[in-house]
Amino acid sequence: KNNSIEAAKKLAKLLQENPKQKVIFLVGAGISTSCGIPDFRSPETGLYHNLSKLNLPYAEAVFDIDFFEEKPRPFYLLASELYPGKFKPSRFHLLLKLFQDNKRLQRIYTQNIDTLERQAGISQEYIIEAHGSFAENHCINCKKIFKMDVFKEHLNKYQKDPSDKNFARCNSCNGLIKPNIVFFGEDLPKKFFTTWDSDLETMSEKETRPIVIVVGTSLTVYPFANLPTDVQKDTTRALISREIVGDFKVSPRKTDIIIETNSDDAADIIARELGWSKQLNNLIKE
Ligand code: OAD
Ligand code: ZN
Repeated sequence: KNNSIEAAKKLAKLLQENPKQKVIFLVGAGISTSCGIPDFRSPETGLYHNLSKLNLPYAEAVFDIDFFEEKPRPFYLLASELYPGKFKPSRFHLLLKLFQDNKRLQRIYTQNIDTLERQAGISQEYIIEAHGSFAENHCINCKKIFKMDVFKEHLNKYQKDPSDKNFARCNSCNGLIKPNIVFFGEDLPKKFFTTWDSDLETMSEKETRPIVIVVGTSLTVYPFANLPTDVQKDTTRALISREIVGDFKVSPRKTDIIIETNSDDAADIIARELGWSKQLNNLIKE
């Protein structure tokens, strides 16, 4: 615990000593657990643990396209847990907003589908939703595109009556309509790859080199889990998490900064060290 405070201070000091340096954040479900949204893989509280009640062949089947085609119900259950609108950004999300406001933000790559980065007021140019979102839908059969509401209406019906057999279906081919969330076996948005390539380039010059901070992800899902490995050796990496994961565990670097704590606690320390506590408190009050 003491170590994590020292590490957070060290990260803040680096940021202070290099006032022009920007930050790339790579985030996952851990930054939203304090908002009341469960993560996926934490024992007991994670969604995959709790989905085991549904007799899934394996927990991740809920994000499997073939399984969805046969049995859409488990995904509807998961979607009704995660659907945006009823949650508020965490202190960590608001810290991200302060990185934007203070011109220190280069990018946020998020695996989350809760859209809390947008809700925190971060502008779209900084956000890469690597695993998509509920903002648009498509027919899994003919790929026709549908507005957000088409799925939402059926989800509402499902929430009122989980035995309802009607799912959102395509008016052209009767295929199932699914939000543009990236399922296993589906491609990530093109923008994810092109933006990461250009962000990688900024790491090769000292003047543009960012710091990369990984937060609240188990780094188990690829290709996202490869990003910290891709980071050039001259670029400082930091990890804020309850556990040491992925490349930080397998191939630790001498320069890695490990902050093993809750993301909101880390946000408080970093904000305080950077002199942003007042700004953070103002955002919390809003
Ligand atoms: P996981 O549930 O796999 O990992 C969350 C990580 O955050 C774990 O390492 C936790 O220990 C840590 N954690 C939890 N609460 C925290 C907190 N308050 N502060 C700091 N750390 C905390 O979630 P992801 O890595 O995001 O796919 O999962 C990746 C993908 O797997 C998701 O995007 C999802 C899922 O299949 C889709 O939604 C398509
Ligand atoms: Zn169709």
